This record gives sequence, C-alpha cells and structure tokens, in this order.
Amino acid sequence: MLDVFDLVIFGGSGDLSRKKLLPALYAGFVAGRVAAESRIYLTSRSGLKGDVYEWLQEVFAESQPACPVEEAQLETFASMVSVVQLGLSEEGEDWISLKESLDSKNERPLVHFLAIPPGLFTSTCELLGKYELNGERARVVLEKPLGHDLASAQAINADVGRAFEENQTFRIDHYLGKEAVQNLLALRFSNILFEELWSGRTIDHIQITIAEDLGVEGRAGFYEGTGAMRDMVQNHLLQLLCLVAMEPPARMDADSIRDEKLKVLKSLKQLSGAEIDRDVVRAQYASGAMNGAAVGSYAEDLKLDHPSNTETFVALKAHIENWRWAGVPFYLRTGKRLPDRFAEIVIQFKQVPHSPHPGWGNNIKPNRFIIRLQPEDHLALRMMVKNHSAKAETLKEVEMNLDVTGDDTIRLGPYLRLILDAVRGDQSLFVHRDEVEHAWRWVDRIIEHWDQSGEPPETYQSGTWGPYEAHDLMTRDRREWFHESNNRKAAR
Ligand code: BG6
Repeated sequence: MLDVFDLVIFGGSGDLSRKKLLPALYAGFVAGRVAAESRIYLTSRSGLKGDVYEWLQEVFAESQPACPVEEAQLETFASMVSVVQLGLSEEGEDWISLKESLDSKNERPLVHFLAIPPGLFTSTCELLGKYELNGERARVVLEKPLGHDLASAQAINADVGRAFEENQTFRIDHYLGKEAVQNLLALRFSNILFEELWSGRTIDHIQITIAEDLGVEGRAGFYEGTGAMRDMVQNHLLQLLCLVAMEPPARMDADSIRDEKLKVLKSLKQLSGAEIDRDVVRAQYASGAMNGAAVGSYAEDLKLDHPSNTETFVALKAHIENWRWAGVPFYLRTGKRLPDRFAEIVIQFKQVPHSPHPGWGNNIKPNRFIIRLQPEDHLALRMMVKNHSAKAETLKEVEMNLDVTGDDTIRLGPYLRLILDAVRGDQSLFVHRDEVEHAWRWVDRIIEHWDQSGEPPETYQSGTWGPYEAHDLMTRDRREWFHESNNRKAAR
C-alpha cells in the first residue's frame, strides 16, 4: 500500500526544489510511487507568479522529470501542491496558517524538507518547534552541506536537536540514494567472493571519482567560499569511501550501517601539513572549451573583480588506519568543467606475483572491478584472457559486464527514494550527526592548512582532467587514473 504523506519543502521555489525535488516527486507520482492523496507544500517568501499548474509547467520545461509530462497527470499533480507564503525566520500569521493546514490531517507522516541554506536551519527548526510541528509524526530532512566546518555543524546539530530527536532527523546525502550505491552494499555483503578479496591482501588501491562537465552555473552565491572540498569531498566522496571500506554490519539497519561508517571516518589518517601539500591537490578552472565551444574561467563565470581561492577541483590520497586497509591508498577526485560527467569507484587489485609465461610478462594488467554510479548503473570486472585469434601466446584484457539495471521504465532517482524513506522513518541511507562531525574534523584540517598557507589553488583549463599535479599524485606512486569510459571503448 502506498504511503500517504504531507511534505513541506522549505525553499519550495528554490534551485533544489525546482531542479531535483519536484521533478522526482512528479516522476514518482506518474510511476505510482506517490499517492495522489499526499500533499506537497512549497514555502516561498514571495509566493509564485501565476497558478501552480503553469508554474510547474515552467519548472518541468527547465528540469525534466524522468518521464514525459502529460496534461492530465500534471493537473492532478498540481492539485496536490500548495504554495505557502512564508518568511522563514518571521513568526506570525503565515506559520499559523501552515500549522492549521497541516494539523487537519494529523495522522499522516509529515516531512519537513529544508532545501534552504544551512544558516537558516536553526531558526526554521526553532519555529517548527514553537508551532508544534515537530510531534511524533514529523521528521526533518536537512540538505547538505551541514554547516561550513566542524563548529558550525555541531551548532546546527545541537539547535536542530532541541526541536527534533535524532530519530526524526534525516541528514541527506543524495549519493546514498543512488541505485548503484545501494547495489554496492548488496554486492559486498551478499557475495562471499568479494568479501574474501576485499582488503589490502589483494587490493592495490581504490579510486573514487565524481567528475562533472558543468561549471558552477547559477550557483555562484553558494559556491564562492564553499568550494569542492566542502561541497563534494566532505559528504559525497567520504560517504562513498565509507561504503567501500566499512566492515560488514551485523544487520542492514540504520544504526548498524551508520556505526560501521563512523568507524571508517574515525580511522581516516589525519594528514600533516607536509602530507597535505604533497597529497592533496586543489585547483580552479580557467577558461577553455567544452564540446567545441569556448567557456569562461571560474572568475569570469562568477563575474568576480578580485581573485578567488575557491577550488573547483580536488584530488587527494587518503589512508584508513585499520587492519583491513593498512597500506591501501584511497584516491579521491572531483571537479567541475571536466571533459565528461561520471561517477565511479575503481577497485584495483594487485599484480599477479609471478608470470609463468615469458611472453606474457609486461602484458598483464591488474584486475579491476569498476562500479559505475552514473550516468548509468553498471558493474564491470576486467580480467586477462588469452588473445584468441593471435597465433602467438599473447594476452588481452576483457571486461565482464554485469547489467544491474532493473526493468523500471522510469528511473526514479535518489531524491524520491530518500523522501520515501524519510516518510517511512527509515534512516539507513541518511547520515548520523557523528558521521557529519567526523567528516568535518578530517576536512577542516586540510582547509585550515590551505588558509594558513595563503597559497592560491592551481588552475586547469576547462575541458581537461584537472591540473598536472592531479596526474602527478598518481604517477609518482606508479599508478594512473582510470578513465573507464575511454578504456572501455578501447577494449571493445
Ligand atoms: C551536489 C553539489 O551535492 O551534488 C553540486 O552541491 C554537484 O555542486 C551535485 O553538482 C552533483 O550531484 P549529481 O547527482 O548530479 O552527481
């Protein structure tokens, strides 16, 4: 049976709501995953121009849902949506009318999604408490980034904690809602094969890349002063690292999973100043070309009249100090304006210890297991086999592709999955406050060192794979970044 819920999106006419949440909810509704009796309230300081139906038409023209938008369905969906004019930190009439609308159906789960800057989390939660919208049926979803550093994250967690219990608090990291990420857990903990190989005994190193081809686009105000370390590494990349590296949880419930992830974050080696200088690369995109068209630099995109130290690219080497992972480097990389958009995890195994055939020697490539998170969900295992047609005894690398896509006609995406989990009160794919704080502790150390050094970031041409230093990070360890898409083409 479908859950019927009330969802309030604070920041309902903002970027996240328009680009991700509403398209996801619409596709969920069309796919029969969101009951038509549910209600979606969008709070907006200035209200909307025109009626909801027309506004949604515009929103979906810009950010297309994962299914076609058809008139009759959009009409029904629009009838589920109400716009509430509301100043977030101003108590009074608006809040009273929101409360009245919500109180009339007080048996349903009530999800408050805070799609607003973290600076507004405290006052919004305070008012949710004051107007008693934090009762048992209520949950609050906090969009990342949670704070700006450890101190601000702790303050937010404490403030939110005054209005909502931890089991009502859902800190979202939409990467955890991606289908392939959940598949990673299924794969690791339902196959003995991987568990036996999953350690420094057989694994040489692990690479995790989230590459984006877009620049900072319309998010200039948010991005300047945030940067890739806070925007991507502190959350998405470290969460992926946790899922790859964690020990098998006793049960697949929220507490057990989050306990194991926390142990990984606690085991991350704190980098010294010299290690940061050597093993953490930060850079900002310069002008260049994307798909043959000239594009401007970061400073030009932001129309800055002063130089900026905000990084749009980070590549780093991390170590997990425990028995399983001692000596196995984790290379993390993310950047904007790179040649391609993809996210993938590459598990690279060790070389064979000895080659029994003289002709094979230099030809043997290490096995690689590739978990592609986007644009498509895909698993691939790369292995060496005999080159079938060749006369001489030679080897070639082949790829075993595992199709893990389901038969859903509509790809529902992570936000719908996570909203529905919040409706059901399932926190397994949400981040515990201790995880957020430990991740900040690790990242803060690096950012503080950068601030103290006063050095500007490196630069890289838009449309390239980042600065030379990112390549050097690998080549000096006699390793290389694996661009699976290029290599896959080459291997076919
Ligand atoms: C967001 C970041 O959390 O993730 C953005 O704030 C980034 O800067 C986005 O573009 C990437 O998400 P996805 O799912 O498109 O890879």
